[in-house]
Amino acid sequence: MEAQKKTLGEFIIENQYEFKNSSGELSRIFNSMKLAAKVVSYKVKKAGLIDIIGGVGDKNIQGEDQQKLDVYANEVFIETLINREIVCGIVSEENDDFITVQGNDKANNNKYVLLMDPLDGSSNIDVNVSVGTIFSVYARISKRGTPVTLEDFLQPGTRQVAAGYIIYGTSTMLVYTTGHGVNGFTLNPAIGTFYLSHPKIKFPVDGSIYSVNEGNYVHFSQGVKNYIKYCQMQEGNRPYTSRYIGSLVSDIHRNMLKGGVYLYPTSTKTTNGKLRLLYECNPMAFIIEQAGGKASNGHSRILEIKPTSLHERVPFYAGSVNMVEKVEEFIAMANKETMC
Ligand code: AHG
Ligand code: MN
Ligand code: MN
Repeated sequence: MEAQKKTLGEFIIENQYEFKNSSGELSRIFNSMKLAAKVVSYKVKKAGLIDIIGGVGDKNIQGEDQQKLDVYANEVFIETLINREIVCGIVSEENDDFITVQGNDKANNNKYVLLMDPLDGSSNIDVNVSVGTIFSVYARISKRGTPVTLEDFLQPGTRQVAAGYIIYGTSTMLVYTTGHGVNGFTLNPAIGTFYLSHPKIKFPVDGSIYSVNEGNYVHFSQGVKNYIKYCQMQEGNRPYTSRYIGSLVSDIHRNMLKGGVYLYPTSTKTTNGKLRLLYECNPMAFIIEQAGGKASNGHSRILEIKPTSLHERVPFYAGSVNMVEKVEEFIAMANKETMC
């Protein structure tokens, strides 16, 4: 019964201790993200009926075609945050540079910056398949009261104070962490309220799902190719099941609930992988680790990488601890063999 479940708003108030040193700012960021999520969710659910499907004819800084919904979601999240003057700066996948939130004089006194992928899984919009939003929050390094600087955004993922994702699937969910575990809230669209539906999410230590765009197989390194063959071998609980949606949020969400591994490797086509460190890999890695999983670039922890630019890409191997460690073993083994 929903009446017995906690709402996201109640949960945030009850767990204020998680936000110590934030004097209400972090709660207000969550309130804004929650509000914008409802607006985007409403639009996504009507996507087939209104003029929101398809491209806008522009490319973003990364040379990718922008979809109407990419642009719409970007505007909704940015405007919601700017109008409430609760962050001092924003980075978005859809904007070349960081945004300095100016507003009135008080604006730059805000403590936090927010980085986001406003619409993840754009290629799925037109075909009625789950998409998502990813966000990450850091305390600024530069002095309050001054304009934000690039350095405020180029912090390693270990310094995140909060991260979350919204999944627009069969239902809309908001899942987040502030470094005290992971909780998931499901939207009741009739009344516009998120309820705590998935408390204390735990990533299974092992699993039987592997998620990778296997169409790129010929472009993968020998280690990754060997691991994929290992997943398909008949032994113990293998062959594993292959599941790949093509929306990072949805692929990770499923694997976190069921147990599995997600791979977006380097390849001869994409030498640094495809996924972006700051607003895709870091927030997802923070959530994954907080749920007891692991996120790696093939040999090191994603969260410890020192970013060098806003839109940089990294290879991403994430999911159940035992499975990610196995991928790392295969990569290390193949690297050793090529060196011999
Ligand atoms: P975005 O839509 O934000 O650009 O992200 C797309 C990403 C990610 O969501 C997904 O996992 C991956 O691209 C899929 O890539 P492939 O189509 O190359 O498999
Ligand atoms: Mn994305
Ligand atoms: Mn996107």
